[in-house]
Amino acid sequence: MDQYSLLQQLRFRMLELSDAQAVIELRAQVLAQLAHPDQYVVEPDEEQFVATHLHLQPQLDSWGASIGVFDGCRLVAYAMLGIPSSSDPENLAHRVGALVTLPGAAAHLASCMVLPNYQGRHLQRNLLHIRSALAKAWGRDCCLAMVSLHNHSSRHNLMREGLCVSWIGEIDGLRRQLLACNPIQPWAFDMRGAQKVCSLDWQSQQSLLEDGWWGVSSEREPHGSSIWFARKLS
Ligand SMILES: CC(C)(COP(=O)(O)OP(=O)(O)OC[C@H]1O[C@@H](n2cnc3c(N)ncnc32)[C@H](O)[C@@H]1OP(=O)(O)O)[C@@H](O)C(=O)NCCC(=O)NCCS
Repeated sequence: MDQYSLLQQLRFRMLELSDAQAVIELRAQVLAQLAHPDQYVVEPDEEQFVATHLHLQPQLDSWGASIGVFDGCRLVAYAMLGIPSSSDPENLAHRVGALVTLPGAAAHLASCMVLPNYQGRHLQRNLLHIRSALAKAWGRDCCLAMVSLHNHSSRHNLMREGLCVSWIGEIDGLRRQLLACNPIQPWAFDMRGAQKVCSLDWQSQQSLLEDGWWGVSSEREPHGSSIWFARKLS
């Protein structure tokens, strides 16, 4: 079946607490088949993590929502959006700083997984559009995502949709890049003098980011990927 025929038979809907078990099972299946173990590290409390992101409860301080993709009754992909409170220490805006976003304007692109047989059809990118629209509807203009240096597909998809690498560092002992976008006022970059860096080169990325450069696009390489860094136009 070609990729568009399969897409026609898929259905998207918001997930509910009653979908939690299906999400947990999908995660276990995807995580067992990762190309690199650091690509996504299992949460300390999977059940709690999933339940928090199925809580469509804007009256709570920090809450979340998820979209599921179904083939018949089978969950084949999902994407989570986190809406952290400004004072939540886990709010990723505290890491990137006010030049990127204020904590009250930040939403987290928390996690997205696609079953192996359904990968390669841009489901992550489609789910990104929906999450970005939902974030905006809930008053969060800036979407933030945390990515492993080894997760080339996810970073590539996020950067294709306009997210930029704006911070690199350790979060809970894991080396992670933080990507951000501002759909209201998209950032512009001066590509003259742009520098290409291997996406696994931690030191060079750290130096460039500390010096005010941003990672603005991703390039596939035979064994991994590279990131182009450029300076922001004021
Ligand atoms: C990440 C994930 C959600 C993407 O699934 P998907 O929507 O099917 O993604 P696609 O296969 O359609 O797109 C992958 C893109 O990455 C690109 N890519 C793959 N390897 C790459 C590399 N080494 N460097 C750069 N880009 C790469 C592909 O070319 C493709 O982009 P293109 O269509 O523009 O060519 C899926 O792979 C997954 O579930 N992975 C395991 C869980 C995970 O890591 N989730 C993300 C963090 S929560």
